[in-house]
Amino acid sequence: MKTIRPLLISFEGIDGSGKSTQCKMLYHELIGRGYGVHLYREPGGTGISEKIRDILLDRENEAMSPITEMLLYFASRNQLISEKVVPALERGEIVLLDRFVDSTVAYQGHGRSLSLESIWNVAEVAIGEVWPDLTILVDTPLETAETRMDDRELDRLEAENADFKQRTRNGYLQLVKDEPQRFLVLDGRESIDKLKQQVLARVDQLLDSLP
Ligand SMILES: Nc1ncnc2c1ncn2[C@@H]1O[C@H](COP(=O)(O)OP(=O)(O)OP(=O)(O)O)[C@@H](O)[C@H]1O
Ligand SMILES: [Mg+2]
Repeated sequence: MKTIRPLLISFEGIDGSGKSTQCKMLYHELIGRGYGVHLYREPGGTGISEKIRDILLDRENEAMSPITEMLLYFASRNQLISEKVVPALERGEIVLLDRFVDSTVAYQGHGRSLSLESIWNVAEVAIGEVWPDLTILVDTPLETAETRMDDRELDRLEAENADFKQRTRNGYLQLVKDEPQRFLVLDGRESIDKLKQQVLARVDQLLDSLP
């Protein structure tokens, strides 16, 4: 198996934007090239994190306060990092994350209007120095994303109103403005194949730049 300098790549975007499609394709491409690669979805990826996921996404949990929600996302994330992500990075492997810290800033910060400062403070405790080398934002208009979720039963966050989703999308774009060099922003209206080529071009560049 090829080992490299550890590489952490996260995928972000609103529900139905096309994140999972792209990160699964990248996963298979990199596995095919002989790299050690791991793909985890957030919230989730460990036994404990999946249990937290169930609480977070359960539509019966209408009473959940925004701060409880934010803390549970970070609890799930810290467990994933401790159990899976850091050990894999220490082995020199590649970790792909289907959502990471930007989701909390976009959804709980911009969507739920929690203080961004409080989110970054918790992030410091929960994720510390574990930071993505690259974040791929699949930026998809709400209307397009919604047509891609037509037949599925919506979870607690997916069932939020259009204003919430618009604030979340804008929150992602604000994160890009704050840290442009970390992001690759894709137009989610493009075809799956065209987006895949754009992802690969950027990842190849990143792999070439590693020592
Ligand atoms: N670029 C694209 N063009 C057309 N359809 C797409 C595109 N990308 C993904 N899809 C389709 O849209 C649906 C949702 O895609 P996907 O599951 O990747 O979104 P997601 O961002 O992971 O959503 P969620 O946040 O809800 O997990 C799937 O049926 C997928 O095949
Ligand atoms: Mg998905």
